[in-house]
Amino acid sequence: MANPILIAPSILSADFAKLGEEVRAIDKAGCDWVHVDVMDGHFVPNISIGPGVVEAIRPHTRKPLDVHLMIAPVDPYIEAFAKAGSDSITVHAEAGPHLDRSLQLIRAAGKRAGVSLTPQTTETGLAYVLDRLDLILVMSVNPGFGGQKFIPAMLEKIARVRAMIGTRSIHLEVDGGITADNARDCTRAGADVLVAGSAVFKGGKYAENIAAIRAAATKT
Ligand code: DX5
Ligand code: ZN
Repeated sequence: MANPILIAPSILSADFAKLGEEVRAIDKAGCDWVHVDVMDGHFVPNISIGPGVVEAIRPHTRKPLDVHLMIAPVDPYIEAFAKAGSDSITVHAEAGPHLDRSLQLIRAAGKRAGVSLTPQTTETGLAYVLDRLDLILVMSVNPGFGGQKFIPAMLEKIARVRAMIGTRSIHLEVDGGITADNARDCTRAGADVLVAGSAVFKGGKYAENIAAIRAAATKT
């Protein structure tokens, strides 16, 4: 049976001056995971938050903290993000130098391990690390900023990754530019976790926005 569709709001679009309150609000609004975008101003052209912020928001929800590390090098920080209370830790395939080692570090810290593919990154190398993965994140915008436009060519990649996953229990997450208008295309291609920043936080109607994305994503 197909996995249920999970909605993971990105707190990159939240009001950083009241993050705890914002996390409680999306929890109450019915999100499944809380997506945390970590940027270093080096791997991506923007700087966001660090492990101290993950630790600070941890007491505000019992839902999984889905931490997306857009940083390089990544290995020296995995332990800190694990200790801060992450449930899943996703690294970029290029964050290197050794993806297999990074994934081992995440699992050794007792966390779900994910790999993220930027729009131009091919999925083929994943064949060699599938057994170390709990999550594959296909980026449907260039990493670094919220509020960008979804890149339609990523639908084909989602379908390819879904085929690679086969019967393994690996989540397939899509991140970037997701709205109620393209959510169904993503789930039809094989995604089961949808990250949405702007589309969840717009207008302050979090519950309504999450419900609209979920309804669109699960439409028959
Ligand atoms: C981009 C981040 C995304 C992004 C999602 O680097 O990984 O999570 O903030 O935001 P929207 O939904 O606004 O594209
Ligand atoms: Zn993200």
